[in-house]
Amino acid sequence: MDKLNFINEELDKLKEAGLLINVRTVEGPQGAWITVDGKSVLNLSSNNYLGLANDLQLKTASHNAIDTYGVGPTAVRTIAGTTTLHKVLEQKLAQFKGVESAVSFQSGFCANLAVIPAIVGKEDVVFSDELNHASIIDGCRLSKTRVVRYKHGNPKDLQDKIHAEKDIRRKLIITDGVFSMEGDIAPLPEIVEIAEKYNAITMVDDAHGEGVLGRGGRGIVDHFNLHGKIDIEVGTMSKAFGVVGGYIAGAKRLTDYLMQKGRPFLFSSAVTAADVAACIAAVDTLNKSDDLVKKLWSNTRFFQDRIKQLMFNIGMTRTPITPVIIGDAKVAKDFSQKLFDVGIFAQPIGYPTVPAGKARIRVMLSATHSEKDLTYAIEHIEKIGKSQGVI
Ligand SMILES: Cc1ncc(COP(=O)(O)O)c(C=O)c1O
Repeated sequence: MDKLNFINEELDKLKEAGLLINVRTVEGPQGAWITVDGKSVLNLSSNNYLGLANDLQLKTASHNAIDTYGVGPTAVRTIAGTTTLHKVLEQKLAQFKGVESAVSFQSGFCANLAVIPAIVGKEDVVFSDELNHASIIDGCRLSKTRVVRYKHGNPKDLQDKIHAEKDIRRKLIITDGVFSMEGDIAPLPEIVEIAEKYNAITMVDDAHGEGVLGRGGRGIVDHFNLHGKIDIEVGTMSKAFGVVGGYIAGAKRLTDYLMQKGRPFLFSSAVTAADVAACIAAVDTLNKSDDLVKKLWSNTRFFQDRIKQLMFNIGMTRTPITPVIIGDAKVAKDFSQKLFDVGIFAQPIGYPTVPAGKARIRVMLSATHSEKDLTYAIEHIEKIGKSQGVI
C-alpha cells in the first residue's frame, strides 16, 4: 500500500472544489507591470503598496550592506551577536511608530509566533477577532492558551465575552489592524475602552496598516491617535515597506522580555544585513515624504468608486485592499484566469483563507499604478463580470 496516497487524494479534493492554488512564477522586478509565467501583466496581486520593493534607494542600501557585512547572519542573534544595522532598524521603527522600543523578527508570521506564547499561557485567555490572520491563530495554538473568538469587528460581543471571563489571571485582546482579506479596519478605540475596563493587554497586528494608515503611513495606532494605549504592536516589513521581516513595537520592557523569551528570536537566524539595510531605507523614505501614501489613497478612491458604480460587491473595505466578492470558488478562479488572459494578474481567494461561499478576486492597489492602468483593469473586470453574470 502507498503510505503517501492520502496526499494525492487531498490534492484531488482541492482540485475538484476549485481550491487548488496555482503558484505563478514571476520573472524580473516588482512594479505595476510584471512578467508572470512569461507574460507581461498588470499587477493587482502584490502587497507592494508604495512600490518600494524595487526602489532604487532601497536596492542601493542593500548592495552597500552586502559589501560591508556579507550575505549571511551565521547564527541566531543571541549566539553570534547582532549587527549594528539591526539595532539601527529597531530604533528607527520605534521612532516611526511612536513607541519606546522595537525588536525585529524574520517575518510578521514569526513575530506573532514569538510574542503570543511569551505573553500568555494555559491559565490565561486570548480574545481574538474571528477573522484574525493565520499567524495569530498559530501563535495562540503554540501558547496553549484558551482562545475565545469574538465576532468580527464587534466590540459588543468582545465586551460580553470578556465580562464572562473577568476573573481570569491574564487577558489578551488581539486584533488585526486592517483585515487582510476584507480591507476593513478594527474598531480600535472601542477595543481600548473595553481593555481598560477589564485590565486586558491589547495587541494589534498592523501588517496592512503601516505605510497605509495614519500620518505618513505610521499605522493604525496613529490613525486613531491611540498612542500609548496599545501594549503590543506587530509589524511586517514585507508589505508597504517592500522588503521582508517582522517586528514587535511597544515598551522597552516588552522588547527586552521578547529577546529572552521569543522563540523565533532565540532559535532562528535573523534576516540578513541586506534586508535590514533596505528596511532602514524604507523607513527613511516614509519619514521624508508622504507622497507615496497620498498616491496610494488617490488610486484607491479612483478604483473603488468606479467598481462600486458598476455594482460589484466590495464588502466592508476601507483601505486599498479591494475584495471583489464573487461567491463560488470555481467562478472566482475562472474570473481570475480570464483576467490573466487579457494581461491582468489578480488572484482568486477561496476557502480556507476566506469563508466558504465568499470566494473573491482580491485586488491590491498600489502607488505604482497609473489611472490608465486602473482604467484598463476596470474595463476588463466589468466585461468579465457581465459575461459571468456577477453584475
Ligand atoms: C495580518 C497579517 N499578519 C502577519 C502577516 C505575515 O507577515 P509576513 O509575510 O511578514 O510573515 C500577514 C501577511 O499575510 C498579515 O496579513
